[in-house]
Amino acid sequence: MKTYRIALVPGDGIGKEVIPAGQRILDALTSAELSLHFRFEHFDWGGDYYRRHGVMMPSEGLDALRKHDAILFGSAGDPNIPDHITLWGLRLKICQGMDQYANIRPTRILPGIDTPLKHCKPEDLNWMIVRENTEGEYSGVGGRTHQGHPLEVATDLSVMTRAGVERILRFAFRLAQARPRKLLTVITKSNAQRHAMVMWDEIAAQVAAEFPDVQWDKELVDAATARMVNRPASLDTIVATNLHADILSDLAAALAGSLGIAPTANLNPERVYPSMFEPIHGSAFDIMGKGLANPIGTFWSIVLMLEHLGETSAAHRLMLAIEHVTANPRLHTRDLGGNATTADVTEAVCAQLAAKAQDIHP
Ligand code: IPM
Ligand code: MG
Repeated sequence: MKTYRIALVPGDGIGKEVIPAGQRILDALTSAELSLHFRFEHFDWGGDYYRRHGVMMPSEGLDALRKHDAILFGSAGDPNIPDHITLWGLRLKICQGMDQYANIRPTRILPGIDTPLKHCKPEDLNWMIVRENTEGEYSGVGGRTHQGHPLEVATDLSVMTRAGVERILRFAFRLAQARPRKLLTVITKSNAQRHAMVMWDEIAAQVAAEFPDVQWDKELVDAATARMVNRPASLDTIVATNLHADILSDLAAALAGSLGIAPTANLNPERVYPSMFEPIHGSAFDIMGKGLANPIGTFWSIVLMLEHLGETSAAHRLMLAIEHVTANPRLHTRDLGGNATTADVTEAVCAQLAAKAQDIHP
């Protein structure tokens, strides 16, 4: 029997609702897949921790996380703490500290879910967004001076390294190669951003030579938004900078029906550090504590986690259970126009996992 050590970091807002739901799913999988077992450790980092200790997570936090095979993360954000503090003190600290440089965001229209795109068939929208996750616009380099004076200056410097760009592009080409269409779109803004983005284009052409079987093209980020809406089927794997892909992935999630469904994985592909899996929806203070959060984004993130751990059959089984549940409009949460609660959806996915286990081990 294989035992995985999973760090649970619910964080703030609805993270505190969807991560316990995710734990229920992992427990249900353990009962269904007899060869699989998870050992959990809970970390109470986030806004409340900050109010008690003045930091979002302790300085030895990264060492504690390193002992785990994967991290399941909820969200960071608190109505009473500035967003840049919650972000840099927790999520970015983990992503950068653990060199999770490849962020992947699969986007599909799941069964039973409507897209706002009028002429789009579900099979027309099947994307894998690859986001550079440790540098670029999120490098954290810059500063402010003369604060409050007319002379005030503020800069946010986007830092791109050849090593960083090369590794994310190689990761994206490899991922595109592993998907049936072997199609990659490299997104930049190399007309206006004439240094680092031009370097991206050059490195893309160099790395492309290693992948002769991958068909690739380039798109500027503004044009990419229109292409996502007007010609979704012309895209498959997409790679972009940290900020560009952040924006494109919210658009992608909305086009696929709801931000509440969208999953993400922050990967350290070399596996020197554990990778981190999280729904992309954020802390959603407006609905927190009401049991209304859609847990599907977390469940789909668990699918990515299982795939990363090499547990492909468990991943497949969970994805089928998720799709079985989304297909039923009575099990849609409010973000999808329904009345179901977090608990309703969680129980339905658990029941489906148990039913499938019955089929397999009667
Ligand atoms: C995301 C989120 C975060 C980001 C926020 C919460 C800071 O929008 O994961 O896409 O910008 O990276
Ligand atoms: Mg975002």
